[in-house]
Amino acid sequence: MTVTTITEARPASAVTSATGRTGESTARTSKPLLSLRSVARRFLTSRQNTTALEGLTFDVHAGEFLCIVGPSGGGKSTLLNVIAGLDAPDGGQVLFEDKPVTKASPERVVVFQEPALFPWLNVRANVEFGLLLKGSPAEERRAAVDRCLDMVNLRHFERAYVHELSGGMKQRVQLARALAVEPRMLLMDEPFAALDAQTRDILQHELQEIWARTRTTILFVTHNVREAVILADRWGEIVHLFEGDELPSVPDLLDWLSWLHARCPECEGESR
Ligand SMILES: Nc1ncnc2c1ncn2[C@@H]1O[C@H](COP(=O)(O)OP(=O)(O)O)[C@@H](O)[C@H]1O
Ligand SMILES: [Mg+2]
Repeated sequence: MTVTTITEARPASAVTSATGRTGESTARTSKPLLSLRSVARRFLTSRQNTTALEGLTFDVHAGEFLCIVGPSGGGKSTLLNVIAGLDAPDGGQVLFEDKPVTKASPERVVVFQEPALFPWLNVRANVEFGLLLKGSPAEERRAAVDRCLDMVNLRHFERAYVHELSGGMKQRVQLARALAVEPRMLLMDEPFAALDAQTRDILQHELQEIWARTRTTILFVTHNVREAVILADRWGEIVHLFEGDELPSVPDLLDWLSWLHARCPECEGESR
């Protein structure tokens, strides 16, 4: 499906009140950390032309946990690549703290679905890697790695190698490595999609705790509505990725979910 629109999401308070949970509404008084203005990305190949993103306009504020739901092929990875500076838009602007994004930066780190870890390094060295690239001094590196390994509950496995880890543990290492460089924004590309349901539940919970502790701004994309609701109904927002649609102004989370499911059957998420 071609993605043309991300409509401003319902406020967190509307989602939380629908579930009866306690959430924290997002402060909207400050300037946005990230702004997308009419962003477009088209892929022209000899076989076909694909419009992955078009007319994409939204803001992300510091401290937000924003989930973006969209179907497979909907442009989610393209969106994160453009925000990360790994890819450039064909039109529009991506502004990070009011400055155009022109290249990748440790300020905006991507956590991929498939953990891209170095098999010849142990867990500790993998987590330390970004800090070495940044040129952080040894003592600072040691403290940051300890802190991040604790955060993802992997301290006991710091000497293990990648082939000795489960899928969930590999994702924890990737998350710790991303957190170690203290990014301003964490861009998460369906990071739990390949995990079994139980591990995904645990990691979703851990991610919520990490967010609550660090308040790192998180932009999380998923095709799984359930996941977006679990993550976003406590503190975040859900935006959508459907062509030409407007989010309905419904007061009830379940109505909103039915609306979303009707437009994206494959977004339903696995049953639990
Ligand atoms: N490098 C590329 N070359 C050509 N087409 C691409 C490229 N990257 C993505 N696309 C196309 O753009 C669309 C969006 O892809 P993607 O952003 O990967 O979607 P999602 O992550 O939501 O599954 C798809 O139709 C995909 O085939
Ligand atoms: Mg993708």
